Amino acid sequence: MTIHTPVATSLATPIALQRPHVIEFGAGTAPLAGRWAAGRGFRRILVVADAFNAGRVDVLGLEGEVTVFGTVKPEPDVPNLDEALALAAEVKPDLVIGFGGGSAMDLAKLVAVLPGSGQTLHEVVGPEKVAKKGAALMQVPTTSGTGSEAGTRALVTDPATQNKLAVQSLFMLADIAIIDPALTLTVPSAVTAATGVDAMAHCVEAFTSKKAHPLIDMYALEGVRLVGRFLGRAIADGSDIEARAGLSLASLYGGYCLGPVNTTSGHAVAYPLGTRHHIAHGAANALIFPHTLAYNAPVAPEKTAAILAALGLPASSRQEEVFASAHRYCAELGCEMKLSALKVPEDDLPVMAGEAHAIRRLLDNNPRDLSRDDILAMYRAAY
Ligand SMILES: NC(=O)c1ccc[n+]([C@@H]2O[C@H](COP(=O)([O-])OP(=O)(O)OC[C@H]3O[C@@H](n4cnc5c(N)ncnc54)[C@H](O)[C@@H]3O)[C@@H](O)[C@H]2O)c1
Ligand SMILES: [Fe+2]
Repeated sequence: MTIHTPVATSLATPIALQRPHVIEFGAGTAPLAGRWAAGRGFRRILVVADAFNAGRVDVLGLEGEVTVFGTVKPEPDVPNLDEALALAAEVKPDLVIGFGGGSAMDLAKLVAVLPGSGQTLHEVVGPEKVAKKGAALMQVPTTSGTGSEAGTRALVTDPATQNKLAVQSLFMLADIAIIDPALTLTVPSAVTAATGVDAMAHCVEAFTSKKAHPLIDMYALEGVRLVGRFLGRAIADGSDIEARAGLSLASLYGGYCLGPVNTTSGHAVAYPLGTRHHIAHGAANALIFPHTLAYNAPVAPEKTAAILAALGLPASSRQEEVFASAHRYCAELGCEMKLSALKVPEDDLPVMAGEAHAIRRLLDNNPRDLSRDDILAMYRAAY
């Protein structure tokens, strides 16, 4: 299929790629963590992990003085980050390792740069505000969703405003990312579905963004294709290592999409579900996905059709067909597609629409303008 240029996809637009210096990929690569750390002479290591992964830090084969912060919460908030920073101030690690899903990896990024910097979290929110590199950073993802291992961004929820504070800094890029799909074999099927849709959403939204770029489009479309091919398989059989590896790659490609292009309306409209109602990031994205894909279809018809085809669905750019296909796809993966079923109170929808509409860093790059009422209409349709 020929893909015409629906939005600002242009070879003439300058773009920069930032990647970890080393990316190890493959089943059984986790013990390379210890070998790499020892080879670089790191002796004081702080592992930032969620409770599940804190229980199996030994798979990394680390030597030396190893301290584990093992209480990263899903969708971490500022108090959770503060606990990790307090431990880092005591340990003074020379290497920080994020070991877990996006929640652990995002906190690890901030734990690597903030202690001893003299900067507070609020001073570094936004692009490139971090003053200098701190400890060395290794990322070891254990979900296939966020692609955080490959990126420069960290998201932490501010309990005061319920917003996600986004910090972006080249100093938070991993020195090494070790992507071992075998670490994801234990991910329960509902989390597999949600995180897989998250990876797909990163690719889809970057592909249709106003900032879309041919250099990234290639990863975006291939990431969607990998999800189309492997997500159903991994949900049906969690021990399918080929499917798990395909999703780890899709997640990495999604991470490549986030840095230079980033997400648009799908993530913006999904955020209040996580911040206000604690719905898992991927589950929120799945619920919103058909609404924003269909909304954008008229201004990105070729790319929308290519996305559906990559997912193995009938290629279409007609709004109703796009919505029906995308909705059925997510529902068949087992994702909950109704806000009411997730116990979101109906009278909160207008406030949520206002919050989503205020996320200009994402919405300004959506190919089609969304008013607050457009967002509210999506929430009502999803209720
Ligand atoms: N930095 C970025 O660019 C970026 C991109 C997208 C999302 N995010 C952020 O990432 C966070 C979500 O990350 P996530 O979706 O990976 O979920 P998560 O890290 O919150 O993990 C979800 C759950 O799965 C468990 N878990 C993790 N690995 C497991 C394994 N191998 N086996 C069994 N259980 C496992 C965790 O303990 C947790 O309970 C959100 O805060 C989101 O905002 C960041
Ligand atoms: Fe995401």
